[in-house]
Amino acid sequence: MRQIKSLPYCIILLLFIFSSCQENRKTRADCPVIPKPLSCKLQSGTFTFGNSTVIELKTGDDGIKKAAEFLKCFVEQTGDCSIKIDSDDDTRNKIVFAVCDTISRDDAYTLKITPREITITSKSGEGAFYAVQTLRQLLPVACEKKICDENVVLDVPCVSIYDVPRFSHRGFMLDVARHYFPVDFIKKSIDMMALYKLNVLHLHLTDDQGWRVEIKSKPRLTSVGAWRRQSIVGHKNDEPRKYDGKRHGGYYTQEELREIVEYAQDRFIEVIPEIEMPGHTQSILAAYPQMACFPKDYEVSCDWGVHKNVLCTREESFKFLEDVLSEVFEIFPSKYIHIGGDECPKEQWSKCPVCQQNIKEMGLKDEYELQSYFINRMEKFVNSHGRQIIGWDEILEGGIAPNAIVMSWRGEEGGIKAAEMKHSVIMTPRDFCYLDYYQSEDRENEPLAIYGYLPLDSVYSYNPTEELTPEQSQYIRGIQGNLWTEYIATPEHAEYMAYPRLIALAEVGWSSQKERDYSDFIRRLSIQSKRLDFLQVNYAKHFLFSKK
Ligand code: ACM
Ligand code: ZN
Repeated sequence: MRQIKSLPYCIILLLFIFSSCQENRKTRADCPVIPKPLSCKLQSGTFTFGNSTVIELKTGDDGIKKAAEFLKCFVEQTGDCSIKIDSDDDTRNKIVFAVCDTISRDDAYTLKITPREITITSKSGEGAFYAVQTLRQLLPVACEKKICDENVVLDVPCVSIYDVPRFSHRGFMLDVARHYFPVDFIKKSIDMMALYKLNVLHLHLTDDQGWRVEIKSKPRLTSVGAWRRQSIVGHKNDEPRKYDGKRHGGYYTQEELREIVEYAQDRFIEVIPEIEMPGHTQSILAAYPQMACFPKDYEVSCDWGVHKNVLCTREESFKFLEDVLSEVFEIFPSKYIHIGGDECPKEQWSKCPVCQQNIKEMGLKDEYELQSYFINRMEKFVNSHGRQIIGWDEILEGGIAPNAIVMSWRGEEGGIKAAEMKHSVIMTPRDFCYLDYYQSEDRENEPLAIYGYLPLDSVYSYNPTEELTPEQSQYIRGIQGNLWTEYIATPEHAEYMAYPRLIALAEVGWSSQKERDYSDFIRRLSIQSKRLDFLQVNYAKHFLFSKK
């Protein structure tokens, strides 16, 4: 009797579970957006952009205005659709930007699309900009083409989205030191980052093989340091090692770098410069040999790998770097300055009378503590200018500087150790985040890469807090994909290595872990691939042919 009575409730419950599963399946199946939003509920109907569409700004916030202007330009570039921005409008076909006080984070947003109106709410321009990128991805992919075909209808499905990123640092590192890349390519990379809600461009500006930032008080850094005699052809491990005999180089003027910073700011992306020290500095020694432990004629390196020629720890080196950083602060308003700190062989310091005297006088145990002293000292200088340092995980060796952020690259161990000491961490372990590794096992048919094997599904599988305790996880500020360019000399090749792996990392950094699903990512990426075609991005296409 009891069983019979409760039966209708069971049926109702089963129906409810079934329908919510159906709903879930539908929303999961249909939302084409990358990175996947936290919550996305598709509804029936569409909103269509046209000449009568108006953007209504219900706020005077400059950031939100910037986001609205991006949307206006994007829609107008598609052809003969012109949109007006107004502060008060009673038309039906409008996009309303409003501030919402109940949203606590700058990077969160809601996007509600109904047939008559689109409403975007956020606390600031950042959230509004992310909403615009989502809206852009809901428009037909053909809209990416400037002047799209007349028969493309500019409509978006009705949807209700609430979205907020998992991590606050979602970065892309571009190594412009090993090969110089044109300003336009850096801007195109920023455009791609904006589309996928990446928010930090880390520019690796200096290394043994080239110095790429104009420093007015040290002109030889670019007149000498920006140019190398030749580059390796093939792999550095090939025997015999071969060279192309062609001079390579170039640098960015301060004006060009300011232009890049502004271009990125307009897309809510921070540019963090990296000025390597004390290792990876042979281009400095080529220009100013007196900064070496053993001054002599050095050349800008024509070889890849870790170099033993590093900055001496004598007083002049600190003064030199402080002068350089003072100009860097003026170009880059970023809160963080990356000072490298990786791969600094201690061979020369161990033989150098000045470095040995420093160890003795300061009561240091060894050259590792001398490196720690070096980084600590630079940190004080950077902090005194209101900025904070980021360094590769070697900065833990010999003792970490008190306010440093660690970029964990040799694995996650450095990051975990730093988190244990309550330092902020950016996870970029090479086995998941190094975009210069091979992406297919079929090496014969791939362009030459440094080594490794990092296919798209491995990148996507990365969960930065999987191995961490909840306490350690609190210090993980985010993730980053790194594109080192020893073996990458052209924008086309750089794009082939970066995409779609960087797009997978964008989702790792943004989307909630429990919402992530590789096969659904591939479904959405297949839709995105047409967008990338219109944007003329040379992405790797393995995912289109794989069975996964
Ligand atoms: C690095 O890959 N040397 C940070
Ligand atoms: Zn020395």
